[in-house]
Amino acid sequence: MEMKMYRESADFLQKKLPFRAKIGIILGSGLGALADKIEEATIIPYSEIPHFAHSTAIGHKGNFICGKLANIPVIAMQGRFHYYEGYSMEQVTFPVRVMKLIGVETLFVSNAAGGINNNFRVGDLMIIRDHINNLPNPLIGPNKEEFGVRFPDMTRAYDRALIASAERIAQEENIEVKKGVYVGLTGPSYETPAEYRFYQLGGGDAIGMSTVPEVLVARHAGIRVFGMSVITNEGWHFEGDYTNDAQEVIDAANKASERMGKIFTRLIQEII
Ligand code: HPA
Repeated sequence: MEMKMYRESADFLQKKLPFRAKIGIILGSGLGALADKIEEATIIPYSEIPHFAHSTAIGHKGNFICGKLANIPVIAMQGRFHYYEGYSMEQVTFPVRVMKLIGVETLFVSNAAGGINNNFRVGDLMIIRDHINNLPNPLIGPNKEEFGVRFPDMTRAYDRALIASAERIAQEENIEVKKGVYVGLTGPSYETPAEYRFYQLGGGDAIGMSTVPEVLVARHAGIRVFGMSVITNEGWHFEGDYTNDAQEVIDAANKASERMGKIFTRLIQEII
């Protein structure tokens, strides 16, 4: 992708938007319901935006929703692009750079994930405190100096102040939250019991097929990041006769939506 393409998309988007938003949100499985809470919404389908890919994953739509959440201007992605859909890593992360160009400074990300920590149960919320990347790195290739440096630091990929605030908010709201390491891999197959065990032994707490690419590109561009996972299935039952079902994953994510949305919304109010 050339710089010109990012700029053309950003210019197109900016002309359609009623106001500037410093906060970007990627509504993955688990945060879909937050879209309905956005007021004065302007909806821009990805299909209208130059150079954008189209979202095909089940449970995902394909729009930017720009509007106000608790009176704060936000730009939200309703649906994201996954590597397993066949997109290049540049396509997967394209919207993050476009958000950077239109002025986004903080990015909120969410996803559905399999719990690989023995203490995690379906329906739990997990604040992402770090990640392990098992997808191709989206920053491979000539470095785009306009966005960031060749070798970006990832020691604090997930903003510590935002994590601390989220923990406090969760406590105030009586919402139980876990905290842990998200393992990102390509999918689309779910993991075998041996793989779940492997990633658990490697330090993971939850495992999924998204988020890490967007976070890497956001951090490269100096965007602050906060992320949460909904635990939609339990991968830590290494033995036993369980199976993973995509519809059950989506149902579990939808159930957690309200709680996660509350934490996101209050965090957003505190940032401004
Ligand atoms: N593995 C990978 N991705 C997922 C899972 C899982 O168990 N659950 C939800 N997304």
